[in-house]
Amino acid sequence: MKRRALIAGNWKMHTTVMDACHLAAEIARQCSDVEDRDVLLAPPFTVLSEVSHVIRDSAVIVGAQNVCWEEKGAFTGEISPVMIQDAGGSAAIVGHSERRQIFHEDDALINKRLQGSLKFGLLTILCAGETLQEREGGRTFNTIEGQIRSALAGVEASRMAQVVIAYEPVWAIGTGKTASTEQAQEVHAFIRKLIEAMYEKTIAEQVRILYGGSVKQDNVDALMAQQDIDGALVGGAALNAESFGRIIHFR
Ligand code: PGA
Repeated sequence: MKRRALIAGNWKMHTTVMDACHLAAEIARQCSDVEDRDVLLAPPFTVLSEVSHVIRDSAVIVGAQNVCWEEKGAFTGEISPVMIQDAGGSAAIVGHSERRQIFHEDDALINKRLQGSLKFGLLTILCAGETLQEREGGRTFNTIEGQIRSALAGVEASRMAQVVIAYEPVWAIGTGKTASTEQAQEVHAFIRKLIEAMYEKTIAEQVRILYGGSVKQDNVDALMAQQDIDGALVGGAALNAESFGRIIHFR
């Protein structure tokens, strides 16, 4: 089963309008020869519209780093799926570990965000990952299973084509420590089995599972060679057009 690779750049809380336009233009240029894989940029909300404009003639897709479940209303500080679409976005990330840890977003909230994102038709990247303490305590699989089961609660099989899962071990994010290819593959295979148990085999075979956590130009090839790794969610290295360009062109 061949799944189309997806390389996503999560810009986090970086870039002014000017930085974002330069970076997006350079990445779009780097993508001009890319046909067999998808490239997604998740810039801050404040530059979504500019980035969408800059990449409009390329194959790059744009998404938000988070999303609310309602179309509009009294939700101070939130951005709706419709607003993301209005700004040219067609995707959203939910459940990033920084949202879980720093902003105390829990599984129930992430489930609402995911459902809202899917309802409005966004491609939705659901992040899951264990902390170092959970890994060392032998609770990696329990943690991942709990996060994925609660995030996908109530999500029908027909919606699963819009879902991408990102395995991001918290201890590997921004630390320079990447999970070994074996560690990553082991968890990815576990996630695929879990999706099969929750839905069915064809859905599990189709769902794309990205790895995230210190993906760099020098480790992307080995990660992408793993059977169940279908792409990468890249933070730090996505802020540099040259390194992100190399990651996009993984071999
Ligand atoms: P990193 O971030 O590549 O800087 O480790 C990945 C992420 O948080 O998505």
